[in-house]
Amino acid sequence: MSLSSQSSIHGEWGSRWAFILAATGSAVGLGNIWRFPYVVGEYGGAAFILVYLGCIVLIGLPVMIAEILLGRSGRQSPINTMRTLPARYGASQAWQILGWLGVVAGFLVLSFYSVVGGWSLAYVPFTAAGNFSGAETAVVEGFFDDLQASPWQLLGWHTLFMALTAFIVVRGVEHGLEKAVRVLMPVLFFLLLVMVGYGMGAGDFAGALEFMFTPDFGALSGEAILVAMGQAFFTLSLGLGAIMAYGSYLSSKYSIPGNSAMIAGADTLIAMIAGLAIFPIILVAGLDMQQGPGLVFVTLSYGFGQMPGGLLFGTAFFLLLSFAALTSAISIMEPATAYLVESRGWRRPAATATVAGAAWFVGIGALLSFNVWAGYELFGLNFMQLTEYLSTSIMLPLGGLLIALFAGWVMPRAFSEKELAFSDQRWYRLWLLLVRYVVPVAIVVVFANTLLNP
Ligand code: PHE
Ligand code: NA
Repeated sequence: MSLSSQSSIHGEWGSRWAFILAATGSAVGLGNIWRFPYVVGEYGGAAFILVYLGCIVLIGLPVMIAEILLGRSGRQSPINTMRTLPARYGASQAWQILGWLGVVAGFLVLSFYSVVGGWSLAYVPFTAAGNFSGAETAVVEGFFDDLQASPWQLLGWHTLFMALTAFIVVRGVEHGLEKAVRVLMPVLFFLLLVMVGYGMGAGDFAGALEFMFTPDFGALSGEAILVAMGQAFFTLSLGLGAIMAYGSYLSSKYSIPGNSAMIAGADTLIAMIAGLAIFPIILVAGLDMQQGPGLVFVTLSYGFGQMPGGLLFGTAFFLLLSFAALTSAISIMEPATAYLVESRGWRRPAATATVAGAAWFVGIGALLSFNVWAGYELFGLNFMQLTEYLSTSIMLPLGGLLIALFAGWVMPRAFSEKELAFSDQRWYRLWLLLVRYVVPVAIVVVFANTLLNP
């Protein structure tokens, strides 16, 4: 029996679909619908999107394949996988850093992710109460500003979101997740299409297409390229061990490359559709493209307020967005939780409560940066911006760099070739070329470029 045919102590996915749906649930979330449009708006549109798409194909997809490969070969929490695998291949124990880096990045990501997930929950009753029906842009913006101005409201929603996430993680990630993702994701997709349809009729759709697809590379700063690369990692859930943990529960019967391409494809499609839903409304309503994290909440609630049936569609939309955020948040919580269960012998509820509690606490800093702490900045960034930047733009790409190097240079070729089982030898060679050279060089160059041309 080869090592990789052992299964994980945390259980195993019941089917190939269970893995695909859980991993898609992890990938599709606030990253697509909240973060993608707001960073595209902030960094100027088409050129940013092209760099982002290039990063998905040339960096994200090969790293996703590598990360699942590591998880399935180690069959443990990412921290222990990065202890076991180096030992198996006679490599340095310094590779353990990868597992710990992921856990720290996971805490940072989860802390602000839960705050924004809380905004999404808050928008369910806001919309259902009819606040946005026929409302002017100033009224819609006022709602977002009032929410941000109230630390207690933000704390309540953040706490609710984190509690819901912990509740699902305690029950074990495979429980019910499969069915929920299978049913609810398509509905979310449908609602985005409704919004695109509305934008085609009532928004500035031509303007949105031009903004999204006519690139002006002259305007692209070093920082924009770094943020685009970080967004590719963030949106595909890479670099912090979430996908590695899910990969460790994947039976060795199933194909890693094929599943990875499906997950990355679905994620990219949803981000682009979200852009097509949002930009036509921003342009026609004269909203500020560069307003930052509030962009999607303001734009969509305005759009739903204007369209027929918007009360129902809008309420359902924010409910489903909250759900999509939950299926991502549980995957961020999984690596640290699995580690505490595996190595410290904790019971799953205690491990989950501890991880959730710690991330909840850091999240308080994120929600205070919109009000009480708004004046405190470091390098021109407030607390939330700092955690978001440090985790998504620096730590996730760094994690991805280490994953690529490990899969490309430390894992024996014979092993990765057999495990990945590409249908064609040439695809394997291409993957190896990407993880060995293209991914590491690209990440190092983008990091260096940002330092030199901020
Ligand atoms: N990919 C998720 C999203 O787009 C966020 C995420 C990041 C999940 C990192 C897991 C790990 O919303
Ligand atoms: Na995503």
